[in-house]
Amino acid sequence: MALTLLVDADEPALGWGPSGRWGTRDHWFTERYCFYTVGPVALTSDRPHHEQCAPRPNQRLGLYARPVGRWLDRKRLMYAARRARDLPRHALIAALLGRRRAEFPDASFYLPLDYPTSSCNSPRWGHGRPNHPFIEPLLAAHVDTYRDVLALLPQYGQDLAAIDRAPRPDSEPYWDNGFWATSGLDAAAIYCLLRSRQPRRYLELGSGQSTKFAARAKRDGGLDTKIISIDPEPREDIDAICDLTLRRPVESAPLSYFEQLEPGDVVFLDGSHRLFMNNDVSTFYLDVLPRLVPGVLVGVHDIYLPEDYGPETVNRYYTEAYMLAAMLLAGPDRIRPVLASHWVCLRPDLSKLLDETWASIGLGGISAYGSAFWFEPNLQAPGPSRESGRPVETA
Ligand SMILES: C[S@@+](CC[C@H](N)C(=O)[O-])C[C@H]1O[C@@H](n2cnc3c(N)ncnc32)[C@H](O)[C@@H]1O
Repeated sequence: MALTLLVDADEPALGWGPSGRWGTRDHWFTERYCFYTVGPVALTSDRPHHEQCAPRPNQRLGLYARPVGRWLDRKRLMYAARRARDLPRHALIAALLGRRRAEFPDASFYLPLDYPTSSCNSPRWGHGRPNHPFIEPLLAAHVDTYRDVLALLPQYGQDLAAIDRAPRPDSEPYWDNGFWATSGLDAAAIYCLLRSRQPRRYLELGSGQSTKFAARAKRDGGLDTKIISIDPEPREDIDAICDLTLRRPVESAPLSYFEQLEPGDVVFLDGSHRLFMNNDVSTFYLDVLPRLVPGVLVGVHDIYLPEDYGPETVNRYYTEAYMLAAMLLAGPDRIRPVLASHWVCLRPDLSKLLDETWASIGLGGISAYGSAFWFEPNLQAPGPSRESGRPVETA
């Protein structure tokens, strides 16, 4: 198979891909670019791939010299070193298994598709169009519960305001962090819900800044909460503030971790956001949720219901929310919303209440927006009892 050099308008040469194929690549874990290979070079863009059936006359194409400073970014070097270290092992495993997965040492994964992901790849609900007509009333039915959660903010307001704004080099949380700078409400919700519920366990799937806020809540509240992190590569160095770490993907974690949870415990998922075979999302919604006893509080990040994912995320191909939406629609009594943060921010009366509360506790200037969806699942499926079933551990 001929290989083609991938060229991106905003990056130097990115890697190699099979010629004449569609694909996508992850850009530094946050952006997803699409490419179409043409002869010896591949065009990439942040446009949805179906819009890019052929190179356009105005296509920006060419190598771009990035300032050296950005290449020497500590995190970039750290990931590069980690990937380089893992490469021989991956190559050996791939050779042994005869797998032809397109995996590259810089964490790029190419996904050739035989059909476009969508004929238009634009939000279907909300963002200028009507919200989902059946999910909105389901969320609206729990407004009083959302108000109760927002009422926790002033209760812990002094402690929230005591959290530093400026970046810190240690494992203390801070508001102006790169990833959650626009999600102040989500950080505050983790903090307040842990303080008020005082769970025995906080089980986090996908760790980083969120873990720091959880650990701060534990310390400020003198809680006995055990912080458990399941994530092969947390975004921050948070091992020291966890009581237990499982540095492997959710899909290979023993399900006994979830079966042990008790009413009052808290689970927070902020992982890949994409539903695929045997990944964190399919495992969580189909294997974890039905095993949770009633009374466990669950939070999932980046949920915009009753809107679709926003136009700014179309190239990330997030799909997790559709799974949650289907569950809500199939049995509203099975998923009891506790805080639909994005919807709270959409609704004028609640967002006004939030803004006023936020300012009154001295958090002005920090984003009061949130997109975490908190709920109590009641999905325990009939069938083999939880105790009798052996935990399924996948390789
Ligand atoms: C969006 S980041 C969120 C991190 C964290 N919640 C924070 O506040 O910074 C996603 C995290 O999910 C992790 N992740 C991706 N796939 C995963 C999987 N299958 N199992 C567990 N964690 C996964 C990544 O390693 C990454 O640390």
